[in-house]
Amino acid sequence: MRKPIMAGNWKMNCDNDEAQALADGVLARAGQVEDATVILCPPATALTTVHAAIANSNIKLGGQNLFWEEAGAFTGEISAKMLLACGCEYVIIGHSERRGRFGTVDEADAEDLAAIFSDTDATVNRKVRAALAAGLRPIVCCGELLSERQAGKTDGVVAAQVRAMLDGIDDEGVANMVIAYEPVWAIGTGEVCDADEAGRVCGMIRDVVEQACGPELAEDMQILYGGSVKPDNVEGLMAMTDIDGGLVGGASLKADSFGALIEAAVASVR
Ligand code: PGA
Repeated sequence: MRKPIMAGNWKMNCDNDEAQALADGVLARAGQVEDATVILCPPATALTTVHAAIANSNIKLGGQNLFWEEAGAFTGEISAKMLLACGCEYVIIGHSERRGRFGTVDEADAEDLAAIFSDTDATVNRKVRAALAAGLRPIVCCGELLSERQAGKTDGVVAAQVRAMLDGIDDEGVANMVIAYEPVWAIGTGEVCDADEAGRVCGMIRDVVEQACGPELAEDMQILYGGSVKPDNVEGLMAMTDIDGGLVGGASLKADSFGALIEAAVASVR
């Protein structure tokens, strides 16, 4: 039986005061939830604030990214050890907003801010290794662009990303990973992937994990869906056999809507 996860990716939102207020709101609604794992991923500047706010609750803390080196001359970067020291147990890796154009910078469209981030399958794999080595559980994202979906390439693109993130990871590491399927066209657009289709792709991801790591690790892998998850669509998504929770952006920024998502995750267990 896989425990459901509801993870809030606050992205570049919430200064310390706002983070405190939002964490307090989530705490009031869901601080003692046991049947689902609730994870808050505030920006790095608010990790310490949120960590203090959620002390004595069941809520977990996660970072939004890391760099794979332990320390050194890497201006602006944050190591796994630093996240751990802030109280993180989880870290999001390879979010499409960090992969940008999946590593390709289009000079002709240089004003598109997405193009300045450059995680690739290779850097995602390095980050997964660094997170696991430090004792963090990585929530590793994959997902196709709209153009790839329209060209019928969804399964191939997602399967390749999953194989790459798992490359060279031992069984213990795989057991500590969480995978998030986030179709890029559904993120922040209000355009949710149809539950059946999201469930199908998550099932396909489980098959890829099985081919790479065997049936037991595949069966236990928690696979999340992300992309415009909201209180009015969460139930259908959580009903899918291969969807074990959500990685939520917009709807995690209000305690009421995130609270409703947590309740749906808990209800999916019964
Ligand atoms: P969204 O973001 O819920 O705002 O679509 C999801 C994500 O990017 O993780």
